[in-house]
Amino acid sequence: MKVKIEKKSILDINADVTVVNLFEGVKVPSGVTGITDKAYNNIISDFVIKSEKFEGKYGEIYELPLIEQHKKIFITGLGKQSEFSLTKIRDLTAKVVRKCNGSKNINKVVSILHGAGIAGLDPEDCAQMIAQGAISGNYSFDKYKSKKDNKNLKEFIIAEIDDEKYKKAKKGMERGIIIGECLNMARDLINDSSQYIYPETLADFAVKNSGVKTTVYNKKQIKEMGMNAFLAVGQGSVHEPKFIHMEYIPEKKAKKKIAIVGKGITFDAGGLDLKPPSSMLTMRDDMSGAASVIAVMRAVSEIKPDVEVHAIIAACENMPSGSAYKPGDVIISKTGRSIEIDNTDAEGRVTLADALAYAEELKVDEIIDIATLTGACMVALGTVASGIMGNNDKKIKEFIETAEKAGERFWQLPMYEEYGESLKSDIADTKNTGGRMGGASAAGIFLSGFVSKTPWIHLDIAGTAFIDKPNSEGIKNATGIGIRSLIKYITEG
Ligand code: BES
Ligand code: MG
Ligand code: ZN
Repeated sequence: MKVKIEKKSILDINADVTVVNLFEGVKVPSGVTGITDKAYNNIISDFVIKSEKFEGKYGEIYELPLIEQHKKIFITGLGKQSEFSLTKIRDLTAKVVRKCNGSKNINKVVSILHGAGIAGLDPEDCAQMIAQGAISGNYSFDKYKSKKDNKNLKEFIIAEIDDEKYKKAKKGMERGIIIGECLNMARDLINDSSQYIYPETLADFAVKNSGVKTTVYNKKQIKEMGMNAFLAVGQGSVHEPKFIHMEYIPEKKAKKKIAIVGKGITFDAGGLDLKPPSSMLTMRDDMSGAASVIAVMRAVSEIKPDVEVHAIIAACENMPSGSAYKPGDVIISKTGRSIEIDNTDAEGRVTLADALAYAEELKVDEIIDIATLTGACMVALGTVASGIMGNNDKKIKEFIETAEKAGERFWQLPMYEEYGESLKSDIADTKNTGGRMGGASAAGIFLSGFVSKTPWIHLDIAGTAFIDKPNSEGIKNATGIGIRSLIKYITEG
Protein backbone atom coordinates (compact mmCIF):
# COMPACT_ATOMS: atom_id res chain seq x y z
CA MET A 1 0.00 0.00 0.00
CA LYS A 2 1.23 3.48 -0.88
CA VAL A 3 0.51 6.54 1.22
CA LYS A 4 0.41 9.81 -0.71
CA ILE A 5 -0.81 13.36 -0.41
CA GLU A 6 -2.47 15.40 -3.15
CA LYS A 7 -3.03 19.16 -3.27
CA LYS A 8 -6.62 18.90 -4.40
CA SER A 9 -10.11 19.09 -3.04
CA ILE A 10 -11.24 15.76 -1.61
CA LEU A 11 -14.10 15.87 -4.16
CA ASP A 12 -11.69 15.95 -7.08
CA ILE A 13 -9.89 12.76 -6.14
CA ASN A 14 -11.39 9.65 -7.56
CA ALA A 15 -11.35 6.85 -4.99
CA ASP A 16 -13.43 3.90 -3.85
CA VAL A 17 -13.83 5.40 -0.41
CA THR A 18 -13.83 9.00 0.76
CA VAL A 19 -13.12 9.44 4.46
CA VAL A 20 -14.56 12.46 6.25
CA ASN A 21 -15.19 13.04 9.95
CA LEU A 22 -17.44 14.53 12.58
CA PHE A 23 -16.99 15.39 16.22
CA GLU A 24 -19.54 13.98 18.62
CA GLY A 25 -22.76 15.98 18.75
CA VAL A 26 -22.12 18.07 15.62
CA LYS A 27 -25.36 18.70 13.77
CA VAL A 28 -24.06 20.86 10.92
CA PRO A 29 -20.88 19.58 9.30
CA SER A 30 -18.26 22.21 8.51
CA GLY A 31 -14.92 22.27 6.69
CA VAL A 32 -14.17 19.47 4.25
CA THR A 33 -16.92 17.28 5.70
CA GLY A 34 -19.34 20.16 5.11
CA ILE A 35 -18.18 20.56 1.52
CA THR A 36 -18.62 16.84 0.93
CA ASP A 37 -22.08 16.99 2.50
CA LYS A 38 -23.14 19.76 0.15
CA ALA A 39 -21.67 18.07 -2.90
CA TYR A 40 -23.88 15.05 -2.22
CA ASN A 41 -27.18 16.88 -1.57
CA ASN A 42 -26.76 17.22 2.20
CA ILE A 43 -26.79 13.47 2.59
CA ILE A 44 -24.68 13.62 5.75
CA SER A 45 -26.66 16.31 7.54
CA ASP A 46 -30.11 15.32 6.29
CA PHE A 47 -29.83 11.59 6.37
CA VAL A 48 -26.98 10.35 8.52
CA ILE A 49 -27.07 12.89 11.34
CA LYS A 50 -30.85 13.27 11.51
CA SER A 51 -31.45 9.54 11.44
CA GLU A 52 -29.28 9.30 14.57
CA LYS A 53 -27.54 6.31 13.08
CA PHE A 54 -24.28 8.05 13.72
CA GLU A 55 -23.36 10.03 16.80
CA GLY A 56 -19.73 10.87 16.11
CA LYS A 57 -18.48 8.79 19.02
CA TYR A 58 -14.76 8.17 18.81
CA GLY A 59 -13.93 5.26 16.53
CA GLU A 60 -17.39 5.01 14.92
CA ILE A 61 -17.27 4.47 11.16
CA TYR A 62 -20.50 4.99 9.23
CA GLU A 63 -20.46 3.49 5.78
CA LEU A 64 -22.50 5.51 3.34
CA PRO A 65 -22.91 3.91 -0.09
CA LEU A 66 -23.34 6.21 -3.07
CA ILE A 67 -25.24 3.92 -5.35
CA GLU A 68 -24.65 5.63 -8.70
CA GLN A 69 -20.96 6.15 -8.32
CA HIS A 70 -20.27 2.66 -6.89
CA LYS A 71 -18.37 4.48 -4.22
CA LYS A 72 -18.60 4.95 -0.51
CA ILE A 73 -18.19 7.69 2.04
CA PHE A 74 -16.90 6.70 5.45
CA ILE A 75 -18.00 9.15 8.11
CA THR A 76 -15.66 8.65 11.02
CA GLY A 77 -16.36 9.70 14.60
CA LEU A 78 -13.73 11.82 16.30
CA GLY A 79 -15.46 11.75 19.69
CA LYS A 80 -15.64 14.78 21.97
CA GLN A 81 -13.60 17.69 20.68
CA SER A 82 -12.20 18.32 24.17
CA GLU A 83 -10.80 14.77 24.31
CA PHE A 84 -9.34 14.70 20.82
CA SER A 85 -5.65 13.87 20.30
CA LEU A 86 -3.02 12.96 17.73
CA THR A 87 -3.00 9.38 18.98
CA LYS A 88 -6.71 9.16 18.15
CA ILE A 89 -5.98 10.27 14.58
CA ARG A 90 -3.44 7.46 14.24
CA ASP A 91 -5.68 4.80 15.74
CA LEU A 92 -8.74 5.86 13.75
CA THR A 93 -6.79 5.77 10.49
CA ALA A 94 -5.52 2.29 11.30
CA LYS A 95 -9.12 1.23 11.87
CA VAL A 96 -10.22 2.67 8.52
CA VAL A 97 -7.45 0.81 6.71
CA ARG A 98 -8.34 -2.46 8.40
CA LYS A 99 -11.98 -1.96 7.46
CA CYS A 100 -11.03 -1.33 3.81
CA ASN A 101 -8.86 -4.41 3.68
CA GLY A 102 -11.74 -6.37 5.15
CA SER A 103 -14.14 -5.38 2.36
CA LYS A 104 -13.56 -6.41 -1.23
CA ASN A 105 -13.26 -3.93 -4.11
CA ILE A 106 -11.68 -1.15 -2.10
CA ASN A 107 -8.34 -0.36 -3.70
CA LYS A 108 -8.07 3.35 -3.19
CA VAL A 109 -9.02 5.59 -0.29
CA VAL A 110 -8.91 9.34 -0.01
CA SER A 111 -8.96 10.86 3.46
CA ILE A 112 -9.51 14.24 4.98
CA LEU A 113 -6.52 15.57 6.96
CA HIS A 114 -8.04 14.76 10.36
CA GLY A 115 -7.24 17.24 13.11
CA ALA A 116 -6.10 20.14 10.93
CA GLY A 117 -9.58 21.69 10.65
CA ILE A 118 -11.60 22.94 13.62
CA ALA A 119 -9.49 20.84 15.99
CA GLY A 120 -6.66 23.22 15.13
CA LEU A 121 -3.80 20.73 15.39
CA ASP A 122 -0.55 21.13 13.47
CA PRO A 123 -1.04 19.73 9.93
CA GLU A 124 2.45 18.24 10.01
CA ASP A 125 1.69 16.24 13.17
CA CYS A 126 -1.71 15.20 11.86
CA ALA A 127 -0.34 13.92 8.56
CA GLN A 128 2.43 12.10 10.34
CA MET A 129 -0.10 10.29 12.51
CA ILE A 130 -2.34 9.48 9.53
CA ALA A 131 0.58 7.96 7.62
CA GLN A 132 1.71 5.98 10.66
CA GLY A 133 -1.80 4.73 11.32
CA ALA A 134 -2.39 3.77 7.70
CA ILE A 135 0.84 1.78 7.45
CA SER A 136 0.51 0.18 10.84
CA GLY A 137 -3.17 -0.62 10.21
CA ASN A 138 -2.17 -2.35 6.99
CA TYR A 139 0.12 -4.72 8.90
CA SER A 140 -0.46 -8.39 9.43
CA PHE A 141 1.88 -11.31 9.92
CA ASP A 142 0.97 -13.95 7.38
CA LYS A 143 4.43 -15.18 6.40
CA TYR A 144 3.65 -18.79 7.26
CA LYS A 145 0.02 -18.90 6.15
CA SER A 146 -0.69 -20.59 2.83
CA LYS A 147 -3.71 -18.32 2.38
CA LYS A 148 -2.46 -14.75 2.73
CA ASP A 149 -4.44 -12.08 4.56
CA ASN A 150 -6.67 -9.88 2.45
CA LYS A 151 -4.84 -6.67 1.53
CA ASN A 152 -6.70 -5.15 -1.38
CA LEU A 153 -5.99 -1.56 -0.42
CA LYS A 154 -3.30 -0.20 -2.74
CA GLU A 155 -3.43 3.56 -2.22
CA PHE A 156 -4.15 5.75 0.76
CA ILE A 157 -4.35 9.40 -0.25
CA ILE A 158 -4.54 12.43 1.99
CA ALA A 159 -6.34 15.36 0.35
CA GLU A 160 -5.37 18.91 1.31
CA ILE A 161 -6.03 21.84 -0.96
CA ASP A 162 -4.67 24.65 1.20
CA ASP A 163 -1.11 25.37 0.10
CA GLU A 164 0.38 26.03 3.51
CA LYS A 165 -1.28 23.06 5.17
CA TYR A 166 -0.34 20.86 2.22
CA LYS A 167 3.34 21.69 2.54
CA LYS A 168 3.41 20.95 6.25
CA ALA A 169 1.32 17.83 5.87
CA LYS A 170 3.59 16.50 3.12
CA LYS A 171 6.58 16.77 5.43
CA GLY A 172 4.70 15.07 8.24
CA MET A 173 3.45 12.33 5.98
CA GLU A 174 6.96 11.57 4.75
CA ARG A 175 8.19 11.20 8.32
CA GLY A 176 5.14 9.11 9.20
CA ILE A 177 5.85 6.70 6.34
CA ILE A 178 9.41 6.14 7.55
CA ILE A 179 8.27 5.53 11.10
CA GLY A 180 5.39 3.26 10.09
CA GLU A 181 7.59 1.14 7.86
CA CYS A 182 10.33 0.81 10.47
CA LEU A 183 7.72 -0.20 13.01
CA ASN A 184 6.36 -2.92 10.74
CA MET A 185 9.88 -4.15 10.00
CA ALA A 186 10.48 -4.65 13.72
CA ARG A 187 7.10 -6.31 14.18
CA ASP A 188 7.92 -8.81 11.43
CA LEU A 189 11.18 -9.66 13.14
CA ILE A 190 9.60 -10.06 16.59
CA ASN A 191 6.61 -12.07 15.37
CA ASP A 192 8.86 -14.51 13.52
CA SER A 193 9.76 -17.76 15.27
CA SER A 194 12.94 -18.29 17.22
CA GLN A 195 13.49 -21.38 15.11
CA TYR A 196 14.47 -18.92 12.36
CA ILE A 197 15.56 -15.92 14.41
CA TYR A 198 18.66 -16.74 16.45
CA PRO A 199 21.76 -14.62 17.10
CA GLU A 200 23.32 -15.23 13.70
CA THR A 201 20.18 -14.50 11.69
CA LEU A 202 19.36 -11.53 13.90
CA ALA A 203 22.82 -10.14 13.19
CA ASP A 204 22.37 -10.75 9.44
CA PHE A 205 19.08 -8.92 9.61
CA ALA A 206 20.75 -5.94 11.28
CA VAL A 207 23.52 -5.89 8.66
CA LYS A 208 20.97 -5.93 5.82
CA ASN A 209 18.31 -3.66 7.27
CA SER A 210 19.71 -1.19 9.80
CA GLY A 211 20.78 1.20 7.03
CA VAL A 212 23.99 2.03 8.91
CA LYS A 213 27.48 0.62 9.44
CA THR A 214 27.00 -2.63 11.37
CA THR A 215 29.76 -4.68 12.98
CA VAL A 216 29.10 -8.19 14.24
CA TYR A 217 31.45 -9.80 16.77
CA ASN A 218 31.68 -13.58 17.18
CA LYS A 219 32.16 -15.62 20.34
CA LYS A 220 35.95 -15.45 20.29
CA GLN A 221 35.90 -11.67 19.90
CA ILE A 222 33.25 -11.30 22.61
CA LYS A 223 35.55 -13.24 24.94
CA GLU A 224 38.47 -10.98 24.04
CA MET A 225 36.31 -7.96 24.89
CA GLY A 226 35.80 -9.40 28.38
CA MET A 227 32.06 -9.87 28.10
CA ASN A 228 31.86 -12.97 30.28
CA ALA A 229 28.42 -12.17 31.66
CA PHE A 230 26.93 -12.03 28.17
CA LEU A 231 28.75 -15.22 27.17
CA ALA A 232 27.54 -17.08 30.27
CA VAL A 233 23.89 -16.56 29.35
CA GLY A 234 24.38 -17.91 25.83
CA GLN A 235 26.57 -20.88 26.69
CA GLY A 236 23.70 -23.38 26.98
CA SER A 237 22.54 -22.87 23.42
CA VAL A 238 23.65 -24.56 20.20
CA HIS A 239 23.55 -21.11 18.60
CA GLU A 240 26.67 -18.99 18.91
CA PRO A 241 26.11 -15.58 20.54
CA LYS A 242 26.68 -12.45 18.45
CA PHE A 243 27.46 -8.94 19.59
CA ILE A 244 26.08 -6.33 17.23
CA HIS A 245 27.20 -2.70 17.04
CA MET A 246 25.42 -0.34 14.61
CA GLU A 247 26.64 3.23 14.22
CA TYR A 248 25.30 6.36 12.60
CA ILE A 249 27.68 9.31 12.30
CA PRO A 250 26.06 12.52 10.98
CA GLU A 251 27.69 14.53 8.21
CA LYS A 252 27.54 17.74 10.25
CA LYS A 253 29.12 17.97 13.66
CA ALA A 254 27.00 15.93 16.10
CA LYS A 255 24.92 17.87 18.65
CA LYS A 256 25.10 14.89 20.96
CA LYS A 257 26.05 11.25 21.13
CA ILE A 258 23.53 8.62 22.19
CA ALA A 259 23.80 4.86 22.64
CA ILE A 260 20.72 2.68 22.55
CA VAL A 261 20.98 -0.86 23.86
CA GLY A 262 18.37 -3.51 23.02
CA LYS A 263 17.88 -6.77 24.92
CA GLY A 264 18.48 -9.51 22.36
CA ILE A 265 17.48 -12.84 23.85
CA THR A 266 16.23 -14.62 20.73
CA PHE A 267 14.51 -17.18 22.93
CA ASP A 268 14.18 -17.23 26.70
CA ALA A 269 13.48 -20.74 27.97
CA GLY A 270 14.64 -19.57 31.38
CA GLY A 271 17.80 -21.69 31.27
CA LEU A 272 18.17 -24.32 34.02
CA ASP A 273 15.60 -22.34 36.02
CA LEU A 274 13.26 -23.44 33.29
CA LYS A 275 10.09 -21.47 32.71
CA PRO A 276 6.71 -23.20 32.95
CA PRO A 277 5.22 -23.87 29.48
CA SER A 278 2.66 -21.08 29.57
CA SER A 279 5.34 -18.46 30.33
CA MET A 280 7.67 -19.83 27.67
CA LEU A 281 5.13 -19.73 24.89
CA THR A 282 5.79 -16.18 23.71
CA MET A 283 9.47 -15.93 24.64
CA ARG A 284 10.50 -15.43 21.05
CA ASP A 285 9.56 -11.82 21.89
CA ASP A 286 12.54 -11.49 24.22
CA MET A 287 14.47 -9.79 21.41
CA SER A 288 11.90 -6.99 21.07
CA GLY A 289 14.39 -4.47 22.43
CA ALA A 290 16.91 -5.61 19.82
CA ALA A 291 14.36 -5.35 17.01
CA SER A 292 13.48 -1.86 18.23
CA VAL A 293 17.02 -0.57 18.10
CA ILE A 294 17.53 -1.99 14.59
CA ALA A 295 14.32 -0.26 13.47
CA VAL A 296 15.34 2.99 15.13
CA MET A 297 18.69 2.91 13.32
CA ARG A 298 16.91 2.36 10.04
CA ALA A 299 14.74 5.41 10.70
CA VAL A 300 17.78 7.43 11.79
CA SER A 301 19.60 6.47 8.58
CA GLU A 302 16.70 7.96 6.61
CA ILE A 303 15.91 10.98 8.76
CA LYS A 304 19.61 11.88 9.17
CA PRO A 305 19.57 13.92 12.41
CA ASP A 306 22.67 15.76 13.64
CA VAL A 307 23.08 13.22 16.39
CA GLU A 308 25.61 10.42 16.61
CA VAL A 309 23.76 7.22 17.41
CA HIS A 310 25.14 3.84 18.43
CA ALA A 311 22.90 0.80 18.76
CA ILE A 312 24.09 -2.24 20.64
CA ILE A 313 22.73 -5.75 20.90
CA ALA A 314 24.15 -8.66 22.90
CA ALA A 315 22.28 -11.44 21.10
CA CYS A 316 22.03 -14.94 22.50
CA GLU A 317 19.58 -17.65 23.44
CA ASN A 318 18.82 -18.64 27.06
CA MET A 319 18.57 -22.43 27.03
CA PRO A 320 18.97 -25.25 29.53
CA SER A 321 21.58 -27.87 28.60
CA GLY A 322 24.69 -29.61 29.84
CA SER A 323 26.73 -26.55 29.02
CA ALA A 324 24.27 -23.99 30.40
CA TYR A 325 25.26 -21.51 33.11
CA LYS A 326 24.05 -22.58 36.53
CA PRO A 327 22.55 -21.10 39.68
CA GLY A 328 25.44 -20.38 42.00
CA ASP A 329 27.90 -19.63 39.19
CA VAL A 330 30.00 -16.50 39.71
CA ILE A 331 30.85 -14.51 36.61
CA ILE A 332 33.28 -11.62 36.26
CA SER A 333 31.56 -9.13 33.99
CA LYS A 334 33.25 -6.69 31.58
CA THR A 335 33.60 -3.95 34.18
CA GLY A 336 35.13 -6.38 36.69
CA ARG A 337 31.98 -6.40 38.80
CA SER A 338 31.26 -10.00 39.77
CA ILE A 339 27.76 -11.52 39.51
CA GLU A 340 26.45 -14.50 41.44
CA ILE A 341 23.76 -16.22 39.40
CA ASP A 342 20.76 -16.59 41.67
CA ASN A 343 18.30 -17.42 38.90
CA THR A 344 19.23 -18.24 35.31
CA ASP A 345 15.89 -16.83 34.14
CA ALA A 346 16.97 -13.31 35.12
CA GLU A 347 19.27 -13.45 32.09
CA GLY A 348 18.45 -10.21 30.31
CA ARG A 349 20.09 -8.05 32.94
CA VAL A 350 23.21 -10.26 32.87
CA THR A 351 23.63 -9.70 29.12
CA LEU A 352 22.79 -6.00 29.51
CA ALA A 353 25.44 -5.61 32.20
CA ASP A 354 28.14 -6.13 29.57
CA ALA A 355 26.28 -4.31 26.81
CA LEU A 356 25.86 -1.22 29.02
CA ALA A 357 29.52 -1.36 29.97
CA TYR A 358 30.44 -1.47 26.28
CA ALA A 359 28.11 1.47 25.57
CA GLU A 360 29.72 3.51 28.32
CA GLU A 361 33.17 2.94 26.79
CA LEU A 362 31.91 4.73 23.65
CA LYS A 363 31.88 7.93 25.71
CA VAL A 364 28.35 8.87 24.77
CA ASP A 365 26.29 11.65 26.38
CA GLU A 366 23.52 9.28 27.28
CA ILE A 367 22.56 5.63 27.20
CA ILE A 368 19.05 4.23 26.79
CA ASP A 369 18.35 0.54 27.12
CA ILE A 370 15.14 -1.10 26.01
CA ALA A 371 14.33 -4.56 27.28
CA THR A 372 11.57 -7.10 27.89
CA LEU A 373 13.14 -7.37 31.30
CA THR A 374 10.75 -8.35 34.07
CA GLY A 375 7.42 -10.08 34.52
CA ALA A 376 7.15 -7.82 37.58
CA CYS A 377 6.90 -4.74 35.35
CA MET A 378 4.12 -6.45 33.41
CA VAL A 379 2.29 -7.20 36.68
CA ALA A 380 2.67 -3.58 37.79
CA LEU A 381 1.66 -1.76 34.62
CA GLY A 382 -0.10 -4.39 32.53
CA THR A 383 -0.09 -3.95 28.77
CA VAL A 384 -1.08 -0.27 29.07
CA ALA A 385 2.22 1.41 29.91
CA SER A 386 5.91 0.51 29.88
CA GLY A 387 8.22 1.04 32.83
CA ILE A 388 10.97 3.64 32.88
CA MET A 389 13.85 4.08 35.34
CA GLY A 390 17.34 5.46 35.29
CA ASN A 391 19.94 7.59 37.01
CA ASN A 392 18.79 10.98 35.71
CA ASP A 393 15.30 12.20 36.61
CA LYS A 394 15.42 15.15 34.24
CA LYS A 395 16.10 12.96 31.22
CA ILE A 396 13.48 10.45 32.35
CA LYS A 397 10.90 13.23 32.49
CA GLU A 398 11.94 14.46 29.06
CA PHE A 399 11.65 10.97 27.65
CA ILE A 400 8.18 10.44 29.13
CA GLU A 401 6.97 13.71 27.60
CA THR A 402 8.45 12.92 24.19
CA ALA A 403 6.93 9.44 24.30
CA GLU A 404 3.52 10.88 25.10
CA LYS A 405 3.72 13.02 21.97
CA ALA A 406 4.73 9.95 19.98
CA GLY A 407 1.62 8.18 21.27
CA GLU A 408 3.37 5.84 23.73
CA ARG A 409 3.07 5.64 27.51
CA PHE A 410 5.92 5.22 29.97
CA TRP A 411 5.52 5.28 33.75
CA GLN A 412 8.42 5.87 36.09
CA LEU A 413 9.10 3.17 38.68
CA PRO A 414 11.21 3.97 41.75
CA MET A 415 14.83 2.96 42.25
CA TYR A 416 15.02 3.40 46.03
CA GLU A 417 18.19 1.80 47.30
CA GLU A 418 16.22 -0.62 49.51
CA TYR A 419 15.23 -2.45 46.32
CA GLY A 420 18.88 -3.42 46.06
CA GLU A 421 18.99 -5.16 49.48
CA SER A 422 17.87 -8.46 48.01
CA LEU A 423 20.71 -8.40 45.50
CA LYS A 424 23.45 -8.59 48.15
CA SER A 425 25.64 -11.65 47.67
CA ASP A 426 27.89 -13.51 50.12
CA ILE A 427 30.36 -14.47 47.44
CA ALA A 428 30.20 -11.81 44.70
CA ASP A 429 29.65 -8.07 44.21
CA THR A 430 26.00 -8.67 43.39
CA LYS A 431 23.46 -11.40 42.75
CA ASN A 432 21.41 -11.18 39.55
CA THR A 433 18.12 -11.40 41.44
CA GLY A 434 16.79 -11.68 44.96
CA GLY A 435 13.15 -12.61 44.73
CA ARG A 436 9.88 -11.51 43.27
CA MET A 437 8.97 -8.46 45.33
CA GLY A 438 9.59 -5.16 43.59
CA GLY A 439 11.20 -7.11 40.76
CA ALA A 440 11.18 -4.37 38.12
CA SER A 441 12.90 -1.92 40.45
CA ALA A 442 15.40 -4.52 41.67
CA ALA A 443 16.31 -5.20 38.03
CA GLY A 444 16.78 -1.46 37.51
CA ILE A 445 19.11 -1.32 40.53
CA PHE A 446 21.05 -4.30 39.20
CA LEU A 447 21.60 -2.57 35.84
CA SER A 448 22.61 0.70 37.50
CA GLY A 449 25.63 -1.13 38.92
CA PHE A 450 27.08 -1.38 35.41
CA VAL A 451 26.76 2.27 34.39
CA SER A 452 29.23 4.40 36.29
CA LYS A 453 28.57 8.01 35.33
CA THR A 454 26.78 8.37 31.99
CA PRO A 455 23.15 9.60 32.17
CA TRP A 456 21.15 6.43 31.59
CA ILE A 457 17.50 5.53 31.00
CA HIS A 458 16.13 2.01 31.29
CA LEU A 459 12.89 1.05 29.50
CA ASP A 460 11.15 -2.13 30.66
CA ILE A 461 8.76 -3.22 27.90
CA ALA A 462 7.99 -6.74 29.19
CA GLY A 463 4.25 -6.04 29.40
CA THR A 464 3.87 -3.98 26.25
CA ALA A 465 6.11 -5.55 23.60
CA PHE A 466 3.90 -8.51 22.80
CA ILE A 467 0.19 -8.56 23.55
CA ASP A 468 -2.51 -11.12 22.96
CA LYS A 469 -5.46 -8.73 22.60
CA PRO A 470 -5.52 -5.84 20.09
CA ASN A 471 -4.68 -2.46 21.64
CA SER A 472 -6.33 0.88 20.78
CA GLU A 473 -4.46 0.86 17.48
CA GLY A 474 -5.68 -2.64 16.73
CA ILE A 475 -2.16 -4.06 17.07
CA LYS A 476 -1.83 -7.61 18.33
CA ASN A 477 1.27 -9.72 19.10
CA ALA A 478 4.46 -7.71 18.44
CA THR A 479 3.74 -4.00 19.00
CA GLY A 480 7.12 -2.41 18.28
CA ILE A 481 6.66 -0.37 21.44
CA GLY A 482 9.40 2.15 22.13
CA ILE A 483 10.42 2.64 18.50
CA ARG A 484 8.32 5.76 17.95
CA SER A 485 9.40 7.32 21.22
CA LEU A 486 13.06 6.62 20.58
CA ILE A 487 12.92 8.02 17.04
CA LYS A 488 11.26 11.19 18.30
CA TYR A 489 13.61 11.52 21.27
CA ILE A 490 16.69 11.08 19.10
CA THR A 491 15.65 13.13 16.09
CA GLU A 492 13.65 15.92 17.74
CA GLY A 493 14.94 15.92 21.34
N1 BES B 1 12.11 -12.30 29.53
C1 BES B 1 11.67 -12.36 30.87
C2 BES B 1 10.71 -11.25 31.27
C3 BES B 1 9.38 -11.25 30.59
C4 BES B 1 8.28 -11.78 31.22
C5 BES B 1 9.21 -10.67 29.34
C6 BES B 1 7.05 -11.75 30.60
C7 BES B 1 7.98 -10.65 28.72
C8 BES B 1 6.90 -11.18 29.35
C9 BES B 1 12.87 -12.28 31.82
O1 BES B 1 14.05 -12.77 31.32
C10 BES B 1 12.55 -13.09 33.01
O2 BES B 1 12.40 -14.26 32.86
N2 BES B 1 12.47 -12.46 34.15
C11 BES B 1 12.15 -13.13 35.35
C12 BES B 1 13.05 -12.60 36.44
C13 BES B 1 12.95 -13.34 37.73
C14 BES B 1 13.55 -14.69 37.60
C15 BES B 1 13.64 -12.54 38.80
C16 BES B 1 10.70 -12.84 35.67
O3 BES B 1 10.26 -11.70 35.48
O4 BES B 1 9.99 -13.75 36.08
MG1 MG C 1 14.27 -14.85 31.66
ZN1 ZN D 1 14.24 -12.78 29.29
